[in-house]
Amino acid sequence: MLKITTSTKSLAESPKKYTRFVITEEPISSHRFIENADGTTTYKTGIGKWSKLDTRTFRTMIRSLVQAAKGHTLECFALELNYADFPLLQAHGEAWFYSTITENLAIATYEFTAYKSKPKKKPLVDILLCGVVSKEGKAGFLRGNTLAEYINRGRDIANTPACDMTPTDLAKAAKDLMKGTQATVKILGEKEITKLKMGALLAVGQGTKAETKFIIVEYWGAGKTSKQKPVVLIGKGVTYDTGGLNVKPSGAMHDMHLDMSGGSAVLSAIAAAAKLGLKRNIVALVPAAENAVSDAAMRAGDIVTSMSGQTIEVLHTDAEGRMILADALTYSARYEPSVILDVATLTGAALSALGQQASAIMTKDEALQSTLLKLGEVSGDLVWPLPLWDEYKQHIKSHRADLSNIATNFSRYGGSIEGGTFLSFFAPKGVPWVHIDMAPRMDSIPSDKLAKGSTGEPVRLLVKFLEEY
Ligand code: BES
Ligand code: MN
Ligand code: ZN
Repeated sequence: MLKITTSTKSLAESPKKYTRFVITEEPISSHRFIENADGTTTYKTGIGKWSKLDTRTFRTMIRSLVQAAKGHTLECFALELNYADFPLLQAHGEAWFYSTITENLAIATYEFTAYKSKPKKKPLVDILLCGVVSKEGKAGFLRGNTLAEYINRGRDIANTPACDMTPTDLAKAAKDLMKGTQATVKILGEKEITKLKMGALLAVGQGTKAETKFIIVEYWGAGKTSKQKPVVLIGKGVTYDTGGLNVKPSGAMHDMHLDMSGGSAVLSAIAAAAKLGLKRNIVALVPAAENAVSDAAMRAGDIVTSMSGQTIEVLHTDAEGRMILADALTYSARYEPSVILDVATLTGAALSALGQQASAIMTKDEALQSTLLKLGEVSGDLVWPLPLWDEYKQHIKSHRADLSNIATNFSRYGGSIEGGTFLSFFAPKGVPWVHIDMAPRMDSIPSDKLAKGSTGEPVRLLVKFLEEY
């Protein structure tokens, strides 16, 4: 387990066992180890001109330090970064500065090792952050530490193979995650889900013995009786997506244990918010099902009735995420939410649109959109908008039912918007709502400087949103 601690002392005064990381203004490629006469080791690394370091390059720089430490199999290192040295970061404050350092040190150190039969010999376990003097700095560090802990625990949940992460396991993981916080968990099984008439959620999960679940987490940080309407977070919890009878081709399936990343992200976010003691009312809803292939699976051409009463023609069994989210959106209305954010690995088309650098956001609420764009930059979980114009609605009007779960002409153009448009029919009327298609950020890429697998996004964005909205 990684431990990050702070010290008000300077780097030069840090205990000898820590390799001392010294940053310079030399080019990024320059770095060297120096054995000092007193038995300590210094690692000097260039990070380029400090005056040019912005929020994006700052985060990458922190992660590179961890990569260097891992590359040299260091078990511990000490580091000192001073807020005053980076002019482009001054707008964000010292709490942000130390939170960002801590978050990125911790998420870059994370590795998914649960299934390695031989533990790593010398994992990086101890980082000392020197020169943290101010009250704001220390508060930022503590926030970053808590946030990163829940991000990494969420990544563990997402990275767990589907054989060990059924909807039942996910429900149990949600309970474990909320332990030690004021958040409460309620799990609905198929009987209760049937009573609620969530026909779309049930249809997606009907192809497997693994029971479909509906996970409800509530955190009343502002007080249940207060006037504050809750923020509702909804996360897609497809524990494995084979595509169903419209089965995915090989090469497109093996990562689909990560199809519950939206679910794990909202669970991490509400747990972190509760642990941080935010004075906010928050609800997280995770419809959890496995999209399996079997004789009991929903068929292409089936028509199901959603909780909203709207009927859905299942034109494609691989467009399952929007079906389970539809019923969760309908359910969310009972909370009279102030705002609803849904997070889902919904479409491969989002990767076609944005590559793997940002999640797509879709909303008709311009204020919400600009808030998320701004907080994306501040938090590091980048998002970019796609339109949700009414013109797209006609494509999913079914001939046989109210709606079709894909375009009735089978066109794949604008696939992400089509997903968002489908969801818009279920979002409670009059409530600001945003759909976050995080498929692009489901799996890390080398430039992220994160372990392969779950990125833990967009938890930093969600928590920032909960703090500031
Ligand atoms: N879970 C997938 C989307 C996905 C694909 C996420 C690749 C991450 C990486 C989703 O359920 C899906 O299969 N979507 C289909 C929709 C299509 C049938 C309209 C897709 O993207 O092909
Ligand atoms: Mn699918
Ligand atoms: Zn899916």
